[in-house]
Amino acid sequence: MKVDETRLLADLEHLGKIGLGPEGGITRRALSREDAAARAYVADRMRAAGLEVRHDEVGNLRGRRKGRDGAAWDSAVPVVMTGSHLDSVPSGGKLDGPLGVVGAVCAIESLNAAGVTTKRPLEVIVFVGEEGSRFRRGTIGSAAVSGHVSVADVLELVDPDGAVYKDALATYGDEGAAIPARAAAGSIHAFVELHVEQGGVLEAAALPIGAVTTIAGLVQRAVTFLGDANHAGATPMNLRHDAFLAAAEWALGIERGAREIGGGVVGTVGKLTVEPGGKNIIPGRVDAICDLRAPTPVLLSALDDYVVSSLHGIGEKRGVELEQQLLQRVEPGPMHELAIVAVQRAAAEAGLGHMRMPSGAIHDALHMAEIAPSSMIFVPSIGGKSHCPTEATDPRHLAQGVAVLAHTLAILANDP
Ligand code: GLV
Ligand code: MN
Ligand code: MN
Repeated sequence: MKVDETRLLADLEHLGKIGLGPEGGITRRALSREDAAARAYVADRMRAAGLEVRHDEVGNLRGRRKGRDGAAWDSAVPVVMTGSHLDSVPSGGKLDGPLGVVGAVCAIESLNAAGVTTKRPLEVIVFVGEEGSRFRRGTIGSAAVSGHVSVADVLELVDPDGAVYKDALATYGDEGAAIPARAAAGSIHAFVELHVEQGGVLEAAALPIGAVTTIAGLVQRAVTFLGDANHAGATPMNLRHDAFLAAAEWALGIERGAREIGGGVVGTVGKLTVEPGGKNIIPGRVDAICDLRAPTPVLLSALDDYVVSSLHGIGEKRGVELEQQLLQRVEPGPMHELAIVAVQRAAAEAGLGHMRMPSGAIHDALHMAEIAPSSMIFVPSIGGKSHCPTEATDPRHLAQGVAVLAHTLAILANDP
C-alpha cells in the first residue's frame, strides 16, 4: 500500500499554521476558534476521502468508511477505529495529535487507492480536549466514548475563565443532530492510534516503528500556597511567610520523591503563578499544578502519597496555608495483544523494523483500551523532543507510520 507523502505533509503543514504563535509553537485550546478551524479542515479531508462524517454529543468528529455489508453508520458489524486529537499544549509542536488524525485520513486514502475493502467498517475519530490545557481534565473525548466519564459531566466542565463546555461546543458550528458519544457494548472491534513517540527510544534504537504495550497513568493536583505579601526590603528573613519558597520547596520534594521511588515514575511542576508578582514584594500567593506519572497504579499512588504528605510539613514550617484539589487521576493501562500484534505484523509486512515499547505520555488509546482491544503506532521523535515548538519527525518516518497504520487497519478490519 502506497502512502501519498506529499498530501500527508501538506495536511500537517496546513494544520501547523492554525494557532501558530510568534515563537513558532502551536496553541490550539480545546473548543477554541483555532480548534474549530483545524476540525473544519479535517472534516473536509474526511469527506474527500469518502468518509461519512458525523459529530457526537461531546464534540468528537467522526468519519466512517463502510464495511463489506455496504453500511457505514448503520452497520451491525463492530467497527475498527483510529484517530487522535487536534488540541495542543500551550506553544506545542505540529505533530502531537495531528499526525494521528490526518495520518488516519491518509491511511484510508491508501486503502481506497489500493482497492482494499474490509469486512468491518473503519472509523476515523478526532477526540476533543486530549491535552487538558483548557478544562480541568484531559482525554475528554475518549473518556466520554469509553464511559469513563458521563456525557453530562463533560458538558458541565468549566474552564478557568468560567466558560462552560456545552456553550463552548457551539464554536464548532456543527449542523445536524449529534450521535451518542458513549460506545455501545461490543460495538468496537479494535482501536489503534498513530502518534509521535515524544521520547528518544526509537531514535536511539534506529527503528522506525514502536508497537505500544502499556500507557503510564497520571495524577494532576492543583495546590494553592497562601502566605503574606509584604515589603521585600523591610521584612527580615525570619518574619516572612513566602508562598513561592513554600511552593519551591514542595517542587524540589517532588523531584526527590520521584528519584527515591524510581521504577520509571516522573513528577513535574510546570504551571505556577506567583502573586502579586512584583519584584520588590514577597510572594503572597502561588497557584501551582503538579503532574505525576507512573507505569503502575501502586507506583502512581506511592508518588502521589509522597507529594500530598510533603505539603503538611512545608505549610507548618513556613507559616503558609495550603489548599489542594485533585484535578485528575487516570490509571495506567495495558494495551491489548490483538492490536499490538496487528501493529507488529503490519510493520513486518511493510518491511519496517519495529519494537514493543511502553508510552510515558497519556493518550486517548488509554481510555479506548477500557472498551476495545487497543494499541498505538509510534514513530521516532527527532531528539526525543515534544510539547515544544521543536517537536519534529523525519518525513520518511511519518509516511512509514501511515503505511503501518493502513496495514494495521486492513488486518484488524478483516481478521476472523
Ligand atoms: C499528553 O500529551 C500528556 O501526556 O500529557
Ligand atoms: Mn501531548
Ligand atoms: Mn498527543
